[in-house]
Amino acid sequence: MSDALARLYPSHLETVKKRFDMALAAAGFDAVAVFAGALHTLFLDDMDYPFRVNPHFKNWLPLSQAHDSFVAHVAGHKPVLVYYQPEDYWYLPPEPPSGYWSQHFDIRIIKRPEDAPGALPIARRCVFLGEWQERFKNWGFADVNPEALLNPLNYTRAVKTEYELECMRRASSLSVQGHRAAEQAFRAGASEFEIHTAFCAASGQTDNQLPYGAIIALNEHASTLHYQYWNRDKPARRHAFLIDAAAQVNGYASDVTRTYSAEPDEFQALIDALDKEQQSLARKVKPELDFKTLHMDAHHAIARLLHNFDFVKLTPEDIVAKRISSVFLPHGLGHLLGLQTHDVGGFMANPRGDSIPKPDGHPYLRITRVLKENFVVTIEPGLYFIPSLLEKLRQGEHSRQVNWPKVDAFRKYGGIRIEDNVVVKSSGDPENLTRDAFRLT
Ligand code: GLY
Ligand code: MN
Ligand code: MN
Repeated sequence: MSDALARLYPSHLETVKKRFDMALAAAGFDAVAVFAGALHTLFLDDMDYPFRVNPHFKNWLPLSQAHDSFVAHVAGHKPVLVYYQPEDYWYLPPEPPSGYWSQHFDIRIIKRPEDAPGALPIARRCVFLGEWQERFKNWGFADVNPEALLNPLNYTRAVKTEYELECMRRASSLSVQGHRAAEQAFRAGASEFEIHTAFCAASGQTDNQLPYGAIIALNEHASTLHYQYWNRDKPARRHAFLIDAAAQVNGYASDVTRTYSAEPDEFQALIDALDKEQQSLARKVKPELDFKTLHMDAHHAIARLLHNFDFVKLTPEDIVAKRISSVFLPHGLGHLLGLQTHDVGGFMANPRGDSIPKPDGHPYLRITRVLKENFVVTIEPGLYFIPSLLEKLRQGEHSRQVNWPKVDAFRKYGGIRIEDNVVVKSSGDPENLTRDAFRLT
């Protein structure tokens, strides 16, 4: 298994180098020092917040915990890893670098963070990339996080290498192991907290290793899009379960949502109908498709469900035109996925950083870009019964077109989201990492 990663890594590294070379040339620098990040201590305490590595650092190599380390790159040279490995007996120091990637780096071990400048190519015009620290100010960097460097890097990394796709396939497979255990726990009557624990155990992750805080929502909690608690109490009646939880492998994320009804009732029929619409949206993913168009297709799909299930007494076209679909689907259809769960770069028109505006009335859409081969996007339509938005609808001019007794009867389910991770392919069907993982795991 890890042979595949060893085989794919060298060409991934070549791509990363090329992208950095281009970005350095465009921004007018000779070298870059990519900082992994530093630990941050809690106020009045001697403990640190969980460490989250700079995504541009883990683009180079699979190290997610290497705080105070740098990757440095000069065009035409072997990249340098300045690796912070303190002598410590309070915390276990990082292992000596090893693995399929390590032979590709000129590795320089430092025992103290302040030894880094001696190991970095600062004599050249070296630009700093990462979370800036005051203590770096006299180290001699030529600039800090200039847009002229960041824009081309964030633009180009939307296209995934084969190595990255393999990491994401593995992340999908781990996610599915967690999802299966979570569904079982739900069916067995577990609390949100117990379901969360079952998810982490089955996917082999601690809380801090998850790509994002798991959303484990029973009943009406699913109407909060990013519901963030794990309730210890078991609800008296269980109607529905929404889980948005995933895994990461070598720093590459997956992002997966499923919704279940406790009974084979009309809510389950609504889930099944949304599932069909979701799969048809996912199948449309292809190069040169404008994601804004697909987002609007999702609104039409939700409008069809609102019409067919008799929630709204208007045609699907009118439901979209009068912006009623936005009450039930108040988020974007999806986002770029990779080094971050919400990868940046979704609005970029070009590597210079010009941006493509969001369609009027859709402020939460996270991609306005035209898709290219090997982008990975999420396709995550939802249909929710959100009290605050329903209240506005009830007060508004379209209230009479809404079948309120029906809508009110569905509030107890909270809502539905179905989310897959899809790779854009230039020929054949798109690769649905999530559906493949559910089929194979
Ligand atoms: N898990 C957050 C999202 O789906 O975007
Ligand atoms: Mn999600
Ligand atoms: Mn998502």
